[in-house]
Amino acid sequence: MPDERVRDDCIRKILPLSLLYALQYKPLDFHIGSYWHTESSPSNFRAASFCHLCGNWLYPLPFPMVLNVSSTESMMLAAIREAERGIGQTSPNPSVGAVIVRDDQIISRGWHKKAGEPHAEVEAIRGLPSPELSKGATLFVTLEPCSTHGRTPPCVETIIRGKFKRVVIGTLDPNPAHAGKALSILNSAGIETEHGVLEEQCRRLNLAFNKWIVTKMPFVIAKAGMTLDGRLTRPHHEPRWITNEASRHDTHLLRSRVDAILVGGETVRVDDPELTVRGIPGARQPYRIVVTQSGNLPPAARILTDAYKDRTCVFVGRSLRKVLEDLGQKEITSVMIEGGMRTLGEAFDQQLVDQVCFYVAPLLGGGPKLVVGGLGAGSTAESPQLMNVEYRRFGDDLRMTGDVKYAATIA
Ligand SMILES: NC(=O)c1ccc[n+]([C@@H]2O[C@H](COP(=O)([O-])OP(=O)(O)OC[C@H]3O[C@@H](n4cnc5c(N)ncnc54)[C@H](OP(=O)(O)O)[C@@H]3O)[C@@H](O)[C@H]2O)c1
Repeated sequence: MPDERVRDDCIRKILPLSLLYALQYKPLDFHIGSYWHTESSPSNFRAASFCHLCGNWLYPLPFPMVLNVSSTESMMLAAIREAERGIGQTSPNPSVGAVIVRDDQIISRGWHKKAGEPHAEVEAIRGLPSPELSKGATLFVTLEPCSTHGRTPPCVETIIRGKFKRVVIGTLDPNPAHAGKALSILNSAGIETEHGVLEEQCRRLNLAFNKWIVTKMPFVIAKAGMTLDGRLTRPHHEPRWITNEASRHDTHLLRSRVDAILVGGETVRVDDPELTVRGIPGARQPYRIVVTQSGNLPPAARILTDAYKDRTCVFVGRSLRKVLEDLGQKEITSVMIEGGMRTLGEAFDQQLVDQVCFYVAPLLGGGPKLVVGGLGAGSTAESPQLMNVEYRRFGDDLRMTGDVKYAATIA
């Protein structure tokens, strides 16, 4: 039975991307031919293409096509697809994917599911139809295999025992305990290595881990739903939502990918938010963090009384930086600050935000509550700037995301 999710992802992302590559850069070959496949009975034939990346028949494709998977990048893309399955589930570990290739065919794949459980490489090796097939095969893995004992034994040892011919790595591990060591260990064991394949894509799989493992500070996302004129609130007698349902669903997806959500005390008093993930099957509930100077929070507040109340932490009288340092020590690798104005202002003033995700609704609110309060930058040149800016529409709402760069760090 094909894995529907992987198949759909392949149709949506990998094949169009590969087509683009083929049209623009031509690094991939395509075999064109007619392929037919039966769904359930011999009479039920439908035009389809077989995708070696996901190992599925892609029925909805209107054209018959088989990807030639000899390209190193195609194989790494397949490993990235595996890694993506673990996003939001693996913290404080990174999301990693792996595929094993023989004779230009993917014969096994694996992804890291949860901290403490086997790493992606080991999952892929365990998934081989027979263990000796690793001998002489190539392993593609999105992140450098570990070379130290952590929650599990070092993956390099398993790879060496598997007698692989070659290991292709997306990105080296920023963890100072690893940081390139796997290359020399594998090379000394006679295994060829290559690294830096689709490096940026592989690096971006783990922005939170990459920061936390080096600094022990969580990766911080500033998120807000705002009106076109930059306001954070609607009149008190109205529902508090500014953005539409599709934007809010996207927010839940984001929440499902972070370890914690943080808000200021006033947001708890005014909105009584739940700050849970809803509508994302299988999602982990993030921790809920409240910062307050006064400690004055309504005892009946939902986050203090609901089914997840054990996952709520209230920090009284601590600076935001100290709160984040404390969370980092507790292996919280990512925090999404969801407001309000004062808390977001302080986060930007102290240069604590790494990424912005603002949803803008086509409304003009007016009034005093701006999105970002605080002291602000002294000049435009000192203002935080967004890099890698992306826009996405959700109905009439617009989502703008970007990586924050502070003046001192802009090249
Ligand atoms: N549209 C959106 O996406 C969105 C999201 C969230 C909130 N909102 C709106 O934003 C409004 C609230 O914004 P706001 O600016 O008034 O308040 P806020 O930022 O939610 O909360 C401010 C309060 O947070 C506490 N605080 C902030 N920084 C702190 C720190 N470093 N250490 C300790 N405590 C700290 C203080 O709490 P104490 O007063 O308890 O001492 C402060 O009064 C609400 O009306 C809400 O509806 C909108």
